[in-house]
Amino acid sequence: MTQATNQSWGGRFSEPTDAFVAAFTASIDFDKRLYHHDIRGSIAHATMLARVGVLTEEERDRIIEGLTEIEAEIERGEVEWSVALEDIHMNVEARLTDKIGITGKKLHTGRSRNDQIATDIRLYLRDEIDAVAAELARLRSGLIELADREADTIMPGFTHLQTAQPVTFGHHLLAWQEMLARDHERLYDCRKRVNVLPLGAAALAGTTYPIDRHVTAEMLGFSRPAENSLDAVSDRDFAIEFTAFASILLMHLSRMSEEMVLWASAQFDFVDLPDRFCTGSSIMPQKKNPDVPELVRGKTGRVYGHLMSLLTLMKSQPLAYNKDNQEDKEPLFDTLDTVKGCLRAFADMAPALVAKPDSMLEAARRGFSTATDLADYLVRAGVAFRDAHEVVGKAVAYGIEQKKDLSEMSLDELKRFSTVIDADVFDVLTLEGSVAARNHIGGTAPDQVRAAAQRAREALAALNGDNRSGGDHV
Ligand code: ARG
Repeated sequence: MTQATNQSWGGRFSEPTDAFVAAFTASIDFDKRLYHHDIRGSIAHATMLARVGVLTEEERDRIIEGLTEIEAEIERGEVEWSVALEDIHMNVEARLTDKIGITGKKLHTGRSRNDQIATDIRLYLRDEIDAVAAELARLRSGLIELADREADTIMPGFTHLQTAQPVTFGHHLLAWQEMLARDHERLYDCRKRVNVLPLGAAALAGTTYPIDRHVTAEMLGFSRPAENSLDAVSDRDFAIEFTAFASILLMHLSRMSEEMVLWASAQFDFVDLPDRFCTGSSIMPQKKNPDVPELVRGKTGRVYGHLMSLLTLMKSQPLAYNKDNQEDKEPLFDTLDTVKGCLRAFADMAPALVAKPDSMLEAARRGFSTATDLADYLVRAGVAFRDAHEVVGKAVAYGIEQKKDLSEMSLDELKRFSTVIDADVFDVLTLEGSVAARNHIGGTAPDQVRAAAQRAREALAALNGDNRSGGDHV
């Protein structure tokens, strides 16, 4: 079966499009989600055309009225999308012409679907970026407050996943927060390059109508019109950039997820994940599974995949627009849905983590985590660091044999390894002494953690403030 020749471009065709080809090349199934931004762009375009005298004010008003009604119809679920009309642009335009007659056909004056789609995606992505930024801010803020409350809670710090030195739980949480702070900046940086107006580039070379692109840019909240029409319709680097941001963010969330999964296990037993973020097993009644962090860890893979799709989609494309670019939408949309879902789950869950300070402390004690502190103590007493390292290594071997932490040994036992050791050694062998001694900017001492949390709060407020009104002058 064949379809009727597409009215928007059928003029030069002698036979209708093959039905399979029409379905194969159509994008309406996925680009319909751009309807609001498509209509917004069209209203701005019609307004600009009337401003420069290409449309009469009456024509402009009929177009705007028609488009506004169509948006309401779409929202009420009354619009049946047509695959024969290919995409969101032609579906909306056909509906407009049905409604208001030939004036509807004038809307497309001085533009092309090429600059229209480039504009729609940028408008849509900009709104989505703002939604992502809000969730990211909520997560950061939750982590900062939890870190402040857990500034004194001691846990083992790890390298190679082996107990290394004691740290505070608040310090660990603020490490996560720092990762997210950089992601947040990357997101806003990407937003600046998204927020440039392609409309007016038309198909590829610009248009012969006396358009005013500054008017359209201002109406749509773009910082400026794109400089070059060929570039404006063709490049999707901004979508790649957003997906690169999303990949790095998900990489960070996957690291946090991994730690939550480990910590919630009976073997670590550092935290309790509230029941509402977990599920049970249908066969093992004792199970409480950390599904949310596991799923976020898993979803990281699909976002990396979308980044690779988009990079490959764009690779080697000659200027200007190519139909390849229609393939930008599904990876971008799925990236957005995934990122928003993961951030929402994390923003709800992370601040609700319940620390188990007793088992954290016990784990820090079991792992000889103050061995470095003992070595530093010996150095302060005049022993060379390499010799001190050797002495402490022997003391640890003895501790393993005797099942005793360094702080649990008597002074006599410790003196067997070095005569310079005195009673004041116990100040540094305690976990509290060890963390308190790392008392400089970036260190794990509880006071430093509280100060760092305060700086993080201020940095977050400043970033939000700077970007509230767009902050996108490039
Ligand atoms: N659906 C198309 C896309 O997503 C819209 C632009 C079509 N332009 C064209 N010349 N066929 O890229």
